[in-house]
Amino acid sequence: MSAEVIYGRELANDLRERMRQEVSKLSEQGVHPNLTVIIVGEDPASLSYVRGKERASQKIGMQSNLIELPESTSHQELLDLVDSLNHNQDVHGILVQLPLPEHINEDEVIEAISPKKDVDGFHPISIGRMMAGKETFLPCTPLGILTMLDEKGIEIEGKHAVVLGRSRIVGKPIGQMLLNRNATVTYCHSKTNQVDDILRQADILIVAVGKPSFIEADQIKEGAVVIDVGVNRLEDGTLTGDVDFESALEKASYITPVPRGVGPMTITMLLHNTIKAAKQIHS
Ligand code: GUN
Repeated sequence: MSAEVIYGRELANDLRERMRQEVSKLSEQGVHPNLTVIIVGEDPASLSYVRGKERASQKIGMQSNLIELPESTSHQELLDLVDSLNHNQDVHGILVQLPLPEHINEDEVIEAISPKKDVDGFHPISIGRMMAGKETFLPCTPLGILTMLDEKGIEIEGKHAVVLGRSRIVGKPIGQMLLNRNATVTYCHSKTNQVDDILRQADILIVAVGKPSFIEADQIKEGAVVIDVGVNRLEDGTLTGDVDFESALEKASYITPVPRGVGPMTITMLLHNTIKAAKQIHS
């Protein structure tokens, strides 16, 4: 079998065009969706991420504020800023870029963001609502994955989904979201025994471990849908996923590439969540 490659980049472009039109309609009604991103410190990778978010917002006509704070910002100063943004009627989505410097308690900062503006879907209230299967802000990467599966008409109900990786941002929530859609979900991680036996049972395999070419064709069931969430930069500067793409291509029915796969969907879902927040706040 030669898999169909799911290009998130193309889908993301289509969705962003639709969002651009939606933002324009909202603006005519006096609602100007606004995403405010806070970054503390000067980590180059994080800066490049947040500038990407800013560019993407602006491209669809969304207002975007990037607040760059020095590494020396105190925990309390950051909490005070979040509090003022919570009360700012013009701000609909608040995103605090992670990781934060060590002297700042990340959990307290996430919990300080109003759940109404939690466009990352990281607040415990958002997570709790997701666990309960209630309407809420869903975290962007998992939401992007589900959108890709739905767009391709890939059935989820009744399928065995195996999630390799258990991060708060991707692994844990994507498993829960697939369970909410009636998949049978198995989580695997670095301490899982006989992991290959489980991986080979996966109808849908989500790989989010951050290790280049960690999964090869012999760990994949014939015809599986393989979603590669890994973004690994090799020494020569090239980006590669967690799955050995060339060999997996021969085994899977669908596969996402890296780059141009899941990545572009993440920012797209951030824009989606911000528009949703703006609509909810003004409804
Ligand atoms: N750091 C890396 N990815 C993310 C993300 O999706 N949201 C936030 N807030 N920080 C990140």
